[in-house]
Amino acid sequence: MKQLSLRIDYTEYDSVETLNTGDRELLEKAVHACSSAYAPYSGFSVGAALLLANGKVIIGNNQENSAYPSGLCAERVALFSASANYPGIKIVALALTAKTGRFVMNGPVTPCGACRQVLAEYENLHGSKIRILMSSASGQVRIVEGTDSLLPFLFHANELKK
Ligand code: THU
Repeated sequence: MKQLSLRIDYTEYDSVETLNTGDRELLEKAVHACSSAYAPYSGFSVGAALLLANGKVIIGNNQENSAYPSGLCAERVALFSASANYPGIKIVALALTAKTGRFVMNGPVTPCGACRQVLAEYENLHGSKIRILMSSASGQVRIVEGTDSLLPFLFHANELKK
């Protein structure tokens, strides 16, 4: 028997203003995307902005549905749109934010498990990590340098070949 542990590295900033210009601009695009989320059921709006290696920025926001499971998270709206419109182009970074009028958010929003799995798929496909910037109306920003920091022991394509 072995007792092991994993270490996760991440950085935190107290406010968006303390980020470098590139990160701040990407987060601002996520904030803009958040404002046009379609979230009438949860009242929880999420905005995502993806920076691609060709310099394009693809935005997404959550799209809810009266049949709840038919809706989709902001991250996957953006990721699938990027892959549909720019197949094969690496994704450099994802900025994420959320807001709600229903309670006070006291920390950054983090991608759900399904979105982490989809992020991992594109990292694996493109052979490059995606920098993930998480924020919210709280103003605090948390950054990880790849999906492995959010989803250890993930299942990916190689598992299908064993
Ligand atoms: N949501 C996202 O868009 N991204 C996440 O990572 C977490 C959850 C959305 C889904 C749903 O529309 C609302 O937030 C509440 O769960």
